[in-house]
Amino acid sequence: MQLIDGKLVSAQVKQEIAAEVADLIAKGGKKPHLAAILVGHDGGSEAYVAGKVKDCEDCGFTSTLIRFDDDVTEEALLAEVEKLNNNKDVDGFIVQLPLPKHISEQKVTEAIDYRKDVDGFHPVNVGRVSLGLPAFVSATPDGILELIKRYKIETAGKHVVVIGRSNIVGKPVANLLMQKAYPGNATVTVVHSYSTDIKEQCLSADIIICALGRPGFLKADMVKDGVVVIDVGTTRVPSTETKSGFRLKGDVDFDNVAPKCSFITPVPGGVGLMTRVSLMKNTLLAGKKEIYK
Ligand code: GUN
Repeated sequence: MQLIDGKLVSAQVKQEIAAEVADLIAKGGKKPHLAAILVGHDGGSEAYVAGKVKDCEDCGFTSTLIRFDDDVTEEALLAEVEKLNNNKDVDGFIVQLPLPKHISEQKVTEAIDYRKDVDGFHPVNVGRVSLGLPAFVSATPDGILELIKRYKIETAGKHVVVIGRSNIVGKPVANLLMQKAYPGNATVTVVHSYSTDIKEQCLSADIIICALGRPGFLKADMVKDGVVVIDVGTTRVPSTETKSGFRLKGDVDFDNVAPKCSFITPVPGGVGLMTRVSLMKNTLLAGKKEIYK
């Protein structure tokens, strides 16, 4: 069993990005600039955005954080999105989700210029990914593919089971793994809450991507020997052993599943860190105008 080390790979990718930025600047270019809009003071969102600001520093990017109170109107938020769309100095930006209930996340996502949509959530980017065209790929699926690449895991002709059908993980990762590319060319099955044969599907899987948000869901009796397991779950569970009072738990019963695996990602230290670094990859692509002129 080999542990897929998201900490190591994400640090490597970050270093590669920083080297490319230094090169860009040496050639007279400008630092990539990522802006983030944060509404309210949700603990999880604050932590995510703080992580993104730090990643920008590590990569040599400029970052701008724009804050609004919880009671900001949809109109005011959309006006800020429009300002960022038109700000030539900003290469890419994100609106941290979730948003308060009185604001439509769909409307805000669609208001973002797809050429600056480094989250890869805009329908144009989602559509282009499914067509196999150059696009901003959303961060978690991109992070998963980067890990598969760096560990040279074969995907062609393999049976991949994706557990979960969310718009930001399950659907796009399934789509990417069936593209005519590497990683890709896989036979992909997506199972979800209405599936009646999850265990049978998993038992025939060469690669399982677990993204349903139920701690410890994937058990040892659901996987065959030699399987590759990618755990996308990051549920906060109470813990007396940490300062914060919680710890992250994945969707995989790690201790019992790991001995049967050829490769497995830990939680924490797996996909989560790659998700962060993929946003930086997209910001660099946006800065270099590599996908959209
Ligand atoms: N909230 C949790 N993850 C994400 C993310 O990747 N992007 C945005 N915009 N909001 C999030």
